Amino acid sequence: MLILGIDTSCDDTAAAVVENGAKIISNIVSSQTDIHKKYGGIVPELASRRHIEMILPVVDEALKGAGAGFEDVSAVAVCHGPGLIGSLLVGCSFAKALCFSKNIPLLAVNHLEGHMFSCFLEEPHPGFPFISLIASGGHTSLYRVDGFGKYRELGRTRDDAAGEAYDKVSKLLGLGYPGGPIIDKLASEGNPKAIDFPRPYLPESFDFSFSGLKTAVLHYLRSQGAKGQNTIQDTGCRIQDKNIVNRESCIMDHDIKDIAASFQACMVDVLVRKAEWAIKKEGIRRVTLSGGVSANSELRKRMKEMGDERETEIFIPSVNLCTDNAAMIASAGYHHFLNKDFAGAGLNPKAYLPL
Ligand code: KG4
Ligand code: ZN
Repeated sequence: MLILGIDTSCDDTAAAVVENGAKIISNIVSSQTDIHKKYGGIVPELASRRHIEMILPVVDEALKGAGAGFEDVSAVAVCHGPGLIGSLLVGCSFAKALCFSKNIPLLAVNHLEGHMFSCFLEEPHPGFPFISLIASGGHTSLYRVDGFGKYRELGRTRDDAAGEAYDKVSKLLGLGYPGGPIIDKLASEGNPKAIDFPRPYLPESFDFSFSGLKTAVLHYLRSQGAKGQNTIQDTGCRIQDKNIVNRESCIMDHDIKDIAASFQACMVDVLVRKAEWAIKKEGIRRVTLSGGVSANSELRKRMKEMGDERETEIFIPSVNLCTDNAAMIASAGYHHFLNKDFAGAGLNPKAYLPL
């Protein structure tokens, strides 16, 4: 059975064709990074407009790539939240119109459920129950998953999501957007022990909090500026932003690498440690890691090491399935189909939609 998946929850227009919830036949993602990067973050209005331009060509390409026509598709699975409301509206309206005109079922998928099920698109995939850590630009949550639709949230971020912290720190450092991949690369060349940023473990809780870590980076930059360690005359100056540090400050390239590595070390320590606590507390030896931040090279490595130490199976999708895509929506949608959980023409997207 082929399901057409659609995701327009944020700044990627994505469509995919997936067979039986597990086999990717085609997977197309049209990124808007070039549009948003000059603003240092996503501009919702621009995102919605671009989705309108791209939704038809992207769906067309996904069907062509699968060698399929609309008549071969058994259902359309669309992400209906959480996300940017204008962006979500484009995908949902398109999917509703398509299902109505072709008389095929519509399946409504929560974006987080999609990230969770990205781990079912490759082999080996996890059996139930498992612990699911989702770390993305909009969310950082830990779930116990006992079956399809049986999710218990163990914790979530109280402020910034992990990816959001990466993006904000990247902006503070005068680097580009999205910040995660840039910091990931710079961190690999820096010293993770150079700066002792705080690790927000929030003992006794599975919640996360990353805004303090981001602020610690800001204070560090200011303190470096105040000390006047590096001057504008130095070659290799990276930051000369008087909004961040004072006029005389200048952070060098090698410092940036150390800051990136030290920041990332905190982020990875916290994410891995919380997953480890969940394994112990729930007595479950299977963990999935998904969402954009799971593309992070250090996090992938450290999670696998922790899994080896704890004799726990760790499932992390390939990098292209970590960030937003529609194959994961089609995969989760397949289970809605099996459960006869169909959405109607009254489906409305929701910016806030707990799992
Ligand atoms: O899952 P995703 O594509 O979109 C949301 O649902 O939010 O995640 C995007 C986030 C961005 O914040 C981006 O900086 C982060 O994932 N990201 C990374 C890496 N690649 C993407 N963070 C850390 N390391 C990476 N390699
Ligand atoms: Zn996402």
